[in-house]
Amino acid sequence: MYKVLMVCLGNICRSPLAEGILKSKVNKADVFVDSAGTGAYHVGNLPDPRSIDVAAKHGINITDQKARKFVVKDFDEFDVIYVMDDSNYQNILLLARNKADEEKVKLILNEAHPNKNLNVPDPYYGGDQGFEDVYKMLDEACNFISKKI
Ligand code: 4NP
Repeated sequence: MYKVLMVCLGNICRSPLAEGILKSKVNKADVFVDSAGTGAYHVGNLPDPRSIDVAAKHGINITDQKARKFVVKDFDEFDVIYVMDDSNYQNILLLARNKADEEKVKLILNEAHPNKNLNVPDPYYGGDQGFEDVYKMLDEACNFISKKI
């Protein structure tokens, strides 16, 4: 079983979308997908209603998800850890215990745009268009990820 973890700050906007989108593109028997946040503000909460809505608009249900915080054990559990932005990247690297942990952490948009180090912008304080834009970026990245797996 190949295991993929999607990480953002709150685990209510971007990474729940990334989790739902990748799950929709892979075989459940072969690939396990989960998500987590580097912050604990929203632990136990459903995804943001705007993420739920944009996912539903594209035929994906993410209402089975509950926010959780990233834990060091995730380095052992997962084969790859996709982070949404530079800030998530730095925060996760601070928790890495060794080179093997560090090498699991990747900026998700580098899958579609290699070596560009682009960020998935945090849509939390913006409007609905931000969520649609995030959806498109993650859908493109997950197309590359699902082909690679
Ligand atoms: P996310 O978005 O990291 O994509 O889940 C955010 C959600 C909540 C907050 C920040 C970003 N917040 O500050 O509460």
